[in-house]
Formats: sequence, structure tokens, C-alpha cells
Amino acid sequence: MQDIKNKRILSGIQPSGELHIGNYFGAIKQHIEFQKNNECYYFVANLHALTTIQDRRRLEENTIEVAMAYIALGLDPGRACLFAQSDIPEVTELAWILSTVTPLGLLERAHSYKDKISRGITPSHGLFAYPTLMAADILIYDSEVVPVGKDQKQHLEMTRDMAIKFNNIFGETFVIPEEYILPEVAVVPGIDGQKMSKSYGNTIDIFSEYNTLKQKIMGIVTDSTPLEAPKNPDTNTIYQLYRLFATPEEKDEMREKFLKGGYGYAEAKKDLLDKIYTFFHPYRERRKRLLREREYVETVLRNGAKNARARAQHVMERVRNRCGVLKFTYY
Ligand code: ADP
Ligand code: TRP
Repeated sequence: MQDIKNKRILSGIQPSGELHIGNYFGAIKQHIEFQKNNECYYFVANLHALTTIQDRRRLEENTIEVAMAYIALGLDPGRACLFAQSDIPEVTELAWILSTVTPLGLLERAHSYKDKISRGITPSHGLFAYPTLMAADILIYDSEVVPVGKDQKQHLEMTRDMAIKFNNIFGETFVIPEEYILPEVAVVPGIDGQKMSKSYGNTIDIFSEYNTLKQKIMGIVTDSTPLEAPKNPDTNTIYQLYRLFATPEEKDEMREKFLKGGYGYAEAKKDLLDKIYTFFHPYRERRKRLLREREYVETVLRNGAKNARARAQHVMERVRNRCGVLKFTYY
């Protein structure tokens, strides 16, 4: 992982359901590692999620779930700021202001919007304006580095375009954020061998209990190579998953067993099951404790929001001053 130090880092996580091990290795793990050497802001993007989730209970539960998952997986609220997007009203104010300098053509070119409507999501104004809200999320904290998956690359480019455009019109106001595309080495396959993704229904959830996990792992699609025959670890989903959890020695050991033959898929799945179950055991236990201490999670989100909001208010005042939006009251 590229060494990033002493930067203000921000990322948003959609509360769209249970988190899977693709999310863990592709995003959460790095997010948590950044907290050691950087000032980190992570928020649950619940306002963005309203473009696809229109169910009060689900949105509320998913919002808390994501926060709980991050804390269980090692986010330290003393080091990183964790909060809900909806706790920072200045974000929607900034989104409006940015929308006034955003050319329509820029939004019309968004792949993510086109993808979503082709998947049957209603093309609302919110869905179309999604990138201006995301730009506001980023610019309102003077964020310097934004670590995201490559599907979000275009949204970051749009954020930079909006910030540059605003600065050109009104004078230096925004820090232009750098993109940090989370490394592709960690593309985690799902149980059918395709990229693991909620939309493909091939996920293994981080906090699964033993029996659910067993069912998933036993369901991994394999070919019909007989037990005695040598097998190629590099085209084999079991090994591709195992290597994420294993030590270098354990990886070599499984590789060799596959290459030698006499190591069947059922036995390999059992080894994978034990490995994943043990790896997430402490996190699963911590999450169970957090489920009983919901007020603690809420306190973390409240304190996170207070910190983040102080910064957002400061930047927002700068923005209003630059563009002449007067305010006669202060809260
Ligand atoms: P999903 O595809 O399940 O809807 P998201 O798009 O919500 O997942 O992904 C959230 C984050 O997790 C993104 O940063 C993304 O790059 C990362 N991620 C998701 N799936 C994988 C995967 N299979 N391998 C690596 N990273 C992943
Ligand atoms: N659009 C991002 C996603 O779907 C979530 C998000 C919202 C975000 N606002 C953000 C990510 C700001 C980084 C920065 O994954």
C-alpha cells in the first residue's frame, strides 16, 4: 500500500446492506490502517443511500450497522472521526452552491448514473445530482486524499472539476483533493468466481456465524477435476480467498498441495472455512458486544459529527464569503 502520512483523509460508505469480505479487503482494511498516520474522516452516506433505499427501517438499521462494523473491525474513535452524513447540514447547502457551477453536460456523462438507470433504478433528480452531493462531502472538510474503489474514480474527477471551476470564478476557496484508488490487488472473488458484489448475490459476509459461513464456503463453484489430479491454485476461487487470510507459509503450503494432487476441493473448503472463521472471530465477538451497546455506537457517531461539523462550518463560512451568500443568524 502506498505510504500516506499526515494527510486529511476522507471517505464515504454507502449503508447498502451487510458488508462482505470484498468490502473488507478492498476498502475497510485500508481505511482503518490510514488512521495510524493521518487525520481520518469516515462517514455513512445515508443521504446518498436515499437515492436507492426508500424504506425507513432499512436505512436506519443499515446506517448503524455500517458504523458498528467499522468500530468492530478496528476503527478507533479516538483517532478517526466516524459520523453520519445527515449530521452535517452544511453538506447539502454546499451541494446546492456547487450545483450552480456544475455544467449539466458534466453530470450527463456520469457512468454511475447511466449504470444505475440501466439497472432499473428510478432516474430521480437526486440520482442525477449524486456527484454534486459527493463533491460537497469531500470539499467541505478540505479533504486532501480520498481513498475509494475504481468505480468512484469519475466522481472524484468531477469533484476536482467543480472545485477548480468554483475557485476560478470566486477565487481560491477549495483544496483540490487527490484521488487514491484502492489497490486492485485485493479484488476478491465471490463464491461463483466473479468479483464479489452484493449485486451478484455471491458474497460471503464478514460477520457470518459458523453455519452460514459453512454453507457459503461449501457452495463455492469448482470444476470437476478429480481428487487425485493436480489443480491450478491461480484459477481456483478457494485458493484466491485463502491467500487473503493466510500467512506466506500457509499460502505456499496450500499451493503445493493443490499442485501435487490428492488434495480435493472439499478438504480445501474445510481449510478455508476454518481460516475465515478464526480470522473474523475477534471482530465477530466485538460486534456482538456492540449490538448490546447501541448507545455507545450512537455516542461515537454524535462525537464524530461534532468534530466534523466544526470543520464543515468553518469551510462553509469561507464559501459563503467568497460567493456573497449572506447569513444573518448563527447557530
Ligand atoms: P458492492 O459491489 O458489493 O455493491 P460496493 O460498491 O458498495 O460493493 O463497495 C464498497 C467498497 O468496497 C468499494 O471501495 C469497493 O471498491 C470495495 N469492494 C467491493 N467489492 C469488492 C471486491 N470484490 N474486491 C475488492 N474490493 C471490493
Ligand atoms: N459514492 C460512494 C460509493 O458509492 C460513497 C460516497 C459518498 C463517497 N460520498 C463520498 C465516497 C465522498 C468518498 C467520498 O461508494
